[in-house]
Amino acid sequence: MIRFGGDYNPEQWPSPVWAEDVGLMLRAGVNLVTVGVFSWSRLQPGPDEFDFGWLDRVLDLLGSAGIGVCLATPTASPPPWFTRLHPTAMPINHDGVRLSHGSRDTYCVNAPAYQSASLEITGRLASRYAGHDALRLWHVHNEYGTTCYCDHCAAAFRRWLAARYGDPATLNDAWSTDFWSQRVSNFDEVLPPRATQYLSNPAQLLDYRRFVSDAMLEHYRSQRALLSGAPVTTNFVLGGWVPVDHARWAREVDIVAIDDYPTTLAERAFAADLARGWARGGPWMLMEHAPSVEAREIAQPYLDRGATGILYFQWRASRGGAEQWHPAMVPHEGPDTPVFREISALGATLRDREPVAVTATSALIYDEQTMWALQSPHLPPRAEGYEATVKRWHRAFDGPVDVVPPDASLGEYDLVVAPLLYLLPAAGHRALRDYVSGGGRLVLTFDSGLVDEHCRVTPGALDDLIGARRIQHDLEPATATVLRHTPDGRPAVLENHYGGGVVRYVATDLDDLGLTLLEI
Ligand code: GLA
Repeated sequence: MIRFGGDYNPEQWPSPVWAEDVGLMLRAGVNLVTVGVFSWSRLQPGPDEFDFGWLDRVLDLLGSAGIGVCLATPTASPPPWFTRLHPTAMPINHDGVRLSHGSRDTYCVNAPAYQSASLEITGRLASRYAGHDALRLWHVHNEYGTTCYCDHCAAAFRRWLAARYGDPATLNDAWSTDFWSQRVSNFDEVLPPRATQYLSNPAQLLDYRRFVSDAMLEHYRSQRALLSGAPVTTNFVLGGWVPVDHARWAREVDIVAIDDYPTTLAERAFAADLARGWARGGPWMLMEHAPSVEAREIAQPYLDRGATGILYFQWRASRGGAEQWHPAMVPHEGPDTPVFREISALGATLRDREPVAVTATSALIYDEQTMWALQSPHLPPRAEGYEATVKRWHRAFDGPVDVVPPDASLGEYDLVVAPLLYLLPAAGHRALRDYVSGGGRLVLTFDSGLVDEHCRVTPGALDDLIGARRIQHDLEPATATVLRHTPDGRPAVLENHYGGGVVRYVATDLDDLGLTLLEI
């Protein structure tokens, strides 16, 4: 069965609309709806007040119609009473500004008050609904991704660093703190990378992203520990801004779920291959995307690449609120609309379908930590960013390719492409070396393997893997890179993306690899 449906927010509507919704869902072939994502203030109107009656009725209504429920914990948006009682649980941004209530995702994941309030509401939901007939999936939180720089975070960051480095000397070495007099004598001297006079330390920036990802993962895990009765997931939002190392998180969910709002079919195919790569052979689903009059065409790349579910944001368009003009499966004008007809047509085609099993023979390496490292300030100018480079190489393949992290097991692939792999920790390097020495064909682009996991430059790190070596690169003018080829070396494709131009050094034939690389 393919899961089909979307986010359903009945709390925005009077109860007579719920019955109409369920009738329309059946008409559209909906079999799964995500309920409760932003319901905290309805479920807990005050610190000691709870109201689950409305949710009981919604779940019963859906269950009796045979529609499954993906039940969300509402922890992405604490209610106003929480903010009023716990002002220090509001996040502080990079510039030192404490954010106020008024939107969503406004909390500090390291604030004890937030942690206990979020676990309390989750625990209550868990004990009430774990045994409900309609429950098919738990949806923890929503799109983890808030970064905070407050004192709670500073304290947690120090603990995280102490566990990672053991002593200040090791931290000093990893962070190259002798540059600009940043040497610390104890962990208490370390701060989050808050706004500062000039450029921040790239190793500190990168470790902070890793820390934020781990802190949120800890919060996810503590919620997951309370849940039972159905598989557990959380929805991954794609893109460079989110401090979540999804490849790691993917090991902690029962089903990988992505939210995807791209503009082209090629980007959808990339997201689908990425989700499948994160799932490592397990199930994955499209948890959110935008409904449209092209729903069937848009769903196709996900289905072709093994999606086990096609869900939208959201079921019924909201009359008010910040996303009142976001497309919906049931638009403001109601079901007698081209969008609803198209969605229903897709629902009808999915009714008897099973997910496709995909076996890819090639892999494309995508690494969020590399993407973060490439967001450091003051890097050599580059005509094309990390994501754009990886996506361009993805388009070079004609069909599904597994998009995997650098430490994935690569042995089964005929071909591995690792575009712009700037950051290369030892484990990733080992995986590539083992792959090549086992006879694998590896394609690297320019700017690969330039720094280790602490952003320290590692000249020649890839000499054992490629047939060419960077011997000089000049920042000014930002055009020149000198490569020395060793034609007897292993296959290599090297690209230079400085200053807007592309110089390509090809030491192997792309046609032989079945790749058609497009110019930027
Ligand atoms: C995200 C969120 C949804 C909604 C959509 C559309 O994916 O999870 O709640 O805001 O974006 O903007």
